[in-house]
Amino acid sequence: MTRDGKSQAAFWILAAGLLSVLTGLVSAVRPPHIVFILADDLGWYDVGYHSSEIRTPNLDRLSAQGVRLENYYVQPVCTPSRNQLMTGRYQIHTGMQHQIIWPCQPYCVPLDEKLLPQLLKEAGYDTHMVGKWHLGMYKKDCLPTRRGFDTYFGYLTGSEDYFTHERCYNIAPLNLTRCALDLRDGEEVATAYKGDYSTELFSQRAVGVIKKHNSSKPLFLYVALQAVHSPLQVPERYLAPYSFIEDRHRRLYAGMVSAMDEAVGNISLALQQEGLWDNTVLVFSTGTQTYANLQNQTQKCGVLRCRSSVPSGLHRHPQKGLCVCRWSDILWVNVFLMFFFFVCFWKVDEVKYQLHCLLLAGPGRRSRLTLARGVAEDRWAKSGFNVSIHAAIRSSNWKLLTGYPGCEVWFPRPGDNGSDCGLSKLDPLKPIMLFDVEKDPEERNEVSAQFPSVVDYLLTRLQEHQKTALPINYPDDDPKCDPGPTRAWGPWA
Ligand SMILES: *[C@@H]1O[C@H](CO)[C@@H](O)[C@H](O)[C@H]1NC(C)=O
Ligand SMILES: *[C@@H]1O[C@H](CO)[C@@H](O)[C@H](O)[C@H]1NC(C)=O
Ligand SMILES: *[C@@H]1O[C@H](CO)[C@@H](O)[C@H](O)[C@H]1NC(C)=O
Ligand SMILES: *[C@@H]1O[C@H](CO)[C@@H](O)[C@H](O)[C@H]1NC(C)=O
Ligand SMILES: *[C@@H]1O[C@H](CO)[C@@H](O)[C@H](O)[C@H]1NC(C)=O
Ligand SMILES: *[C@@H]1O[C@H](CO)[C@@H](O)[C@H](O)[C@H]1NC(C)=O
Repeated sequence: MTRDGKSQAAFWILAAGLLSVLTGLVSAVRPPHIVFILADDLGWYDVGYHSSEIRTPNLDRLSAQGVRLENYYVQPVCTPSRNQLMTGRYQIHTGMQHQIIWPCQPYCVPLDEKLLPQLLKEAGYDTHMVGKWHLGMYKKDCLPTRRGFDTYFGYLTGSEDYFTHERCYNIAPLNLTRCALDLRDGEEVATAYKGDYSTELFSQRAVGVIKKHNSSKPLFLYVALQAVHSPLQVPERYLAPYSFIEDRHRRLYAGMVSAMDEAVGNISLALQQEGLWDNTVLVFSTGTQTYANLQNQTQKCGVLRCRSSVPSGLHRHPQKGLCVCRWSDILWVNVFLMFFFFVCFWKVDEVKYQLHCLLLAGPGRRSRLTLARGVAEDRWAKSGFNVSIHAAIRSSNWKLLTGYPGCEVWFPRPGDNGSDCGLSKLDPLKPIMLFDVEKDPEERNEVSAQFPSVVDYLLTRLQEHQKTALPINYPDDDPKCDPGPTRAWGPWA
């Protein structure tokens, strides 16, 4: 269960070596097709190859043929994570560090940012997107079709019903809860798919894109699945293998993961059938980690220091990502590797949460920051970093957390009764916590007192990062967002 620090280190060295070879190769070869499948809120202990009770034969097989990245970080919430993937920049550098974009907030990824699909278009790619956008849509210029994608089929907000494709949201300035469709084909509202389970709908779309693609051109296909974000919904047939799971939420979630795994299988099969496979870089990653079953169930025990079950999803930690990369003889990884080395930094006050993220320099210099509540500690004042800010930074084997870590308990691995893995309180909660995550990947032994110079160094680094942050853009809800009783969520400005 415990991950092996040495093998991680070896992986990173290997990755660094590969990277330099690859950059040399890239210019000489035909650009590969890139298919990036992003799952939503998938946890560490939710794939078969991590000894889960959930079966993911396609992911297991594909990852066994490729590379499993077991030690990289994604953002804890959707918008910042997707912002990074699309811009290659931390959200502290796009002003999107605060939380997520709610349906009525009039902002999006700054329009002067050139997004990944735009860059790939310039490099000669056909670019297609299927699934969840969540990078803003209050005006048309923010839509995926205007940000570099030739085609788009999906939903613009952060979550919705898997079957009806409706999103309900309380429009505060109107004191009104509105439920409306959120599904678009290109820029047009797509009304014909009520009842179609989104995991199947989106994988069919992705397969359609692949089938239509003229293989003489390089393809970029971004499949941002709804799975396995809440709500817990899945067609009955996916539940059959999981009758042994007693917890109903975990059972539903397991079924959702199975459907997602099937989607990945279908997409990879289509790539093979269309003759694209041998020149395709396929990446599967989580965008964020488990949130779908709020029932404390999907974490491998101790993988995360703690998990909040706060349903708003505000108090969550930056999360360990999960990635499967498969490529054939040609390796062209820079484009997506930039996604894997991110750091994150959250600042919180009573009302709003400010999420800051920082880009890592590369393998071996991982660091990240998180969210915290206000607790001051004068002792470390000379770094200049305000340790009441909820933050975390990782550098080589060290991880430093400041402020409140998000919650006070450990969550057990599903089905695990061991007291060691139970919901034990973190005692005491300190405003500064240091862990040697290579020796102690589950972050159980707090060692800041033994390594004060490491703490000083990391706080100084935090402060340097914080100085580069842009002001937060997190506007109030605009009542003009209201789609009314008959229309769909979408651009209003
Ligand atoms: C909001 O609406 C509810 C009923 O729908 C009402 O009870 C409440 O007073 C309203 N609040 C405000 C601030 O108008
Ligand atoms: C995968 O393809 C099979 C065969 O076409 C289909 O029955 C199934 O619904 C697909 N699964 C998903 C998740 O799209
Ligand atoms: C694919 O594109 C190439 C080059 O543009 C063209 O010559 C060929 O006819 C296209 N194939 C199909 C099936 O459209
Ligand atoms: C999470 O676990 C705790 C402790 O077992 C339990 O009290 C709580 O009800 C669980 N949350 C949910 C939503 O089931
Ligand atoms: C530190 O941050 C907290 C909360 O973010 C804030 O209330 C406090 O004023 C800050 N302290 C200083 C010295 O800036
Ligand atoms: C947990 O406890 C239940 C009931 O006591 C038992 O059936 C189950 O096998 C235990 N699970 C583990 C992983 O020990």
